[in-house]
Amino acid sequence: MNKPLYKRKTVRVSAVLLLCFGILQLYRPELKKQPVTADFNGPENVKAILKAACYDCHSNEPDLKWFDHLQPAYSIALADSEEGKAGLNFSEWGNMAPGDQKAKLFEILNQITTGSMPLKSYQVLHRSANLNPAEIAIVKNYVAGMIKDHPADTALVNAATKQFNNWNAQNLKADKLPETLTGVPYLPDYKNWQVVSTTDRMDNNTIRVVFGNPIAIKAIAEHHINPWPEGTIFAKVAWDKLLNADGNVKTGAFKQVEYMIKDSEKYKRTKGWGWARFKTMKLLPYGKNIGYATECVNCHRPLSNNDFVFTLPVKH
Ligand code: HEC
Ligand code: HEC
Repeated sequence: MNKPLYKRKTVRVSAVLLLCFGILQLYRPELKKQPVTADFNGPENVKAILKAACYDCHSNEPDLKWFDHLQPAYSIALADSEEGKAGLNFSEWGNMAPGDQKAKLFEILNQITTGSMPLKSYQVLHRSANLNPAEIAIVKNYVAGMIKDHPADTALVNAATKQFNNWNAQNLKADKLPETLTGVPYLPDYKNWQVVSTTDRMDNNTIRVVFGNPIAIKAIAEHHINPWPEGTIFAKVAWDKLLNADGNVKTGAFKQVEYMIKDSEKYKRTKGWGWARFKTMKLLPYGKNIGYATECVNCHRPLSNNDFVFTLPVKH
């Protein structure tokens, strides 16, 4: 055996690797400093948690640690921050309308409780980003505290009843059905489908009902729901939530209906689902451009291991 040669080789390889690492450090794209214009304005205890766990990627004041400055960690941190800030930037929080802030908080709570945020890869080195149950409870209580139930006046309740009846009776001509910019259709049939679940969304006072088409219902019965079979369709309807004088909850104005239509070929670019939202009784298609579904996919991403579907039937 020629041991010394083997040893020399190891030294040479190490030296080359070290050199590569050194050269890599020279590559240093600029960290663009942007001002904090309208920082998150929630209570201090909530802010402290978000600062420790989220601000590195979701604010204009990242607090990079020494090891974040080493390449390739530095480039990864920069990319994460660019991508993260595009969807949520706490430094510009105050520029959102109050309703949008509430919706964002609800989304934040969802991302945290499902364990999708902060990113797992980030938590490995940044221990302060590992949120414990007590910290999660603080965020949850804050979001829950924003619910405000005011009894609605009679006129509003009556108007809503009338609208509900209209919704029930609504019968559109087949050739007049709206569709989104990417051609995902409105499907009038959903009113006859089975209800998979109902939820009461605390942040924006809506009642939501999720309907499943017969393929979805069959898949649930046969426990074939991950992935959901081709042809599965979910429709989620949202109404304003009204409280009448007796404190009973009832549906208010019809807000929208949303669809997820499973077709892996046709909707390959949006995770195998066609995404559509039609707003108000006029059924106005949602989306300013053909990329509108990115927003849907991003918010459903915590459920990527469940084929992007939130509504899980009770396990037996
Ligand atoms: C290491 C960087 C990183 C950290 C830390 C991090 N995020 Fe994110 N976040 C991202 C990236 C990248 C995206 C966009 C892609 C994705 O969803 O994976 C994102 C997306 C999101 C979105 C969806 C935004 C949209 O597009 O609508 C929310 C909400 C969110 N993060 C909340 C949080 C919260 C809350 C925390 C702290 C508890 C957190 N994130 C911590 C990188 C991060
Ligand atoms: C702010 C986060 C968020 C965004 C953005 C979002 N969704 Fe959802 N979606 C949810 C949540 C949470 C549920 C679970 C049911 C509930 O709580 O209302 C859901 C449920 C659904 C369902 C019922 C099936 C399921 O996954 O449970 C459909 C259909 C749906 N969304 C369609 C859409 C479409 C279409 C868009 C984009 C136009 C969209 N969603 C954007 C959060 C979001």
